Amino acid sequence: MSCVEFIIPSFKVTMTANKVLILLVMLAAATHAHENKCDATQNTSLCSVSPGGSVYIQVMTNASGHQVLCKKQLPLGPINVFILKREKLTIQYEPFRDRTEFFINNGTFKISNMERNDSGHYIIEAFDPDGVLVRNVKVHLDVQGKY
Ligand SMILES: *[C@@H]1O[C@H](CO)[C@@H](O)[C@H](O)[C@H]1NC(C)=O
Ligand SMILES: *[C@@H]1O[C@H](CO)[C@@H](O)[C@H](O)[C@H]1NC(C)=O
Ligand SMILES: *[C@@H]1O[C@H](CO)[C@@H](O)[C@H](O)[C@H]1NC(C)=O
Ligand SMILES: *[C@@H]1O[C@H](CO)[C@@H](O)[C@H](O)[C@H]1NC(C)=O
Repeated sequence: MSCVEFIIPSFKVTMTANKVLILLVMLAAATHAHENKCDATQNTSLCSVSPGGSVYIQVMTNASGHQVLCKKQLPLGPINVFILKREKLTIQYEPFRDRTEFFINNGTFKISNMERNDSGHYIIEAFDPDGVLVRNVKVHLDVQGKY
């Protein structure tokens, strides 16, 4: 395994490339503690957010003309969170009202003021103008941290 050495003024740390990557990810996360971007163009993704922060979840590059449905997996089954239809966003799940936006031009939605109880599994489905399912992604939101 390759090793990288860091010389820090008073002491010297040796770590594996893996740990360096984790450190870089942590630094990146710390820099954007309140503005988390999450790429959900893959079918499954994990987004970590700090309480009070915002999360941007990009579902596709352009959602114009598309219908997008977001559901949250609850113990009794999935519940509708929002639906984007004819370029209009309708929030169906009360806790997300007044803090959810959908930017159609870049297929990204933003949820502000994240709380720990927003953690969980979400299912996002997108249909093109012909009604064909073009995205079916699962996003695991993890809201925790010291904020
Ligand atoms: C999370 O908790 C807050 C405050 O207790 C409450 O207002 C909100 O509706 C809850 N959200 C969910 C998703 O249950
Ligand atoms: C998104 O797609 C629509 C319809 O195809 C197009 O008119 C618009 O210019 C696109 N927007 C961007 C930002 O690419
Ligand atoms: C999408 O557009 C919004 C509003 O202009 C912007 O805040 C956000 O950063 C954009 N996201 C991406 C992934 O380009
Ligand atoms: C991702 O989802 C799309 C649409 O449901 C599907 O066509 C594709 O095969 C999936 N890709 C992977 C890697 O599972």
